Amino acid sequence: MFPPRVARLFREEFAGKRTCHLFGGFSTFGVRLDIDPATKPHVFGDAWLPPFVRDAFDVVILDPPYIGINQQMKQQLLRGASWIAREHVVWFHTQWIAAGTTSCVFDRAWLVRVGDSCAVRCIQVFRTSATKTNGKPFFTRGPAIRYNRWLAGQTGLPFRDGSTGVDVDAWPAGGNGQAPSQRAKDVSSSSSSGSDRSTSHSPPSPTRDPGGDL
Ligand SMILES: C[S@@+](CC[C@H](N)C(=O)[O-])C[C@H]1O[C@@H](n2cnc3c(N)ncnc32)[C@H](O)[C@@H]1O
Repeated sequence: MFPPRVARLFREEFAGKRTCHLFGGFSTFGVRLDIDPATKPHVFGDAWLPPFVRDAFDVVILDPPYIGINQQMKQQLLRGASWIAREHVVWFHTQWIAAGTTSCVFDRAWLVRVGDSCAVRCIQVFRTSATKTNGKPFFTRGPAIRYNRWLAGQTGLPFRDGSTGVDVDAWPAGGNGQAPSQRAKDVSSSSSSGSDRSTSHSPPSPTRDPGGDL
């Protein structure tokens, strides 16, 4: 949860705006995306690859975990957030962040003291540029590198067909161009005729995927 005064500041600053939290947690306002189902997010997903269209929200708030975030990761988060934010991206963290080569322009900031003996937090508000560019279609470093195989179309997303219970490729990016339901039928009929599933669905290529499975 945000410290109460921080939550209040956000509510006042962005009253009436469509707001999204890419590290949603248990925030009490806006649309929450989170990778942890225990938070019961509105959208279950990964902040490294926000599943939203350009300008989907007015304001996007980033409150990532405090450890293990390097400069490239921060830039990637800002880049992805600025793509889906029409007006502002907000950074709330113990580390100050530079807009760098992202489409963000620094606007204003607060230094936040959350106790008598503590690491301070910063709130930085960035304006998003109208001429912004999308995040890299291919990741060369950071946690999102695991998504390269799907972004490159090497393999489909691991959707599961509800009726057959078998994994099917995303459509139309993966597989042979058929709809998932059609391919699911193909797979299940080949299974029932005794063929091994691995023969009809090759395992994902490990190429450039040190991040492992989802
Ligand atoms: C610092 S907390 C955010 C707290 C939130 N501002 C609130 O008011 O509750 C970080 C949250 O980010 C989530 N998270 C961590 N990695 C993530 C990722 N890659 N994508 C989306 N959410 C992630 C965690 O599950 C956790 O809920």
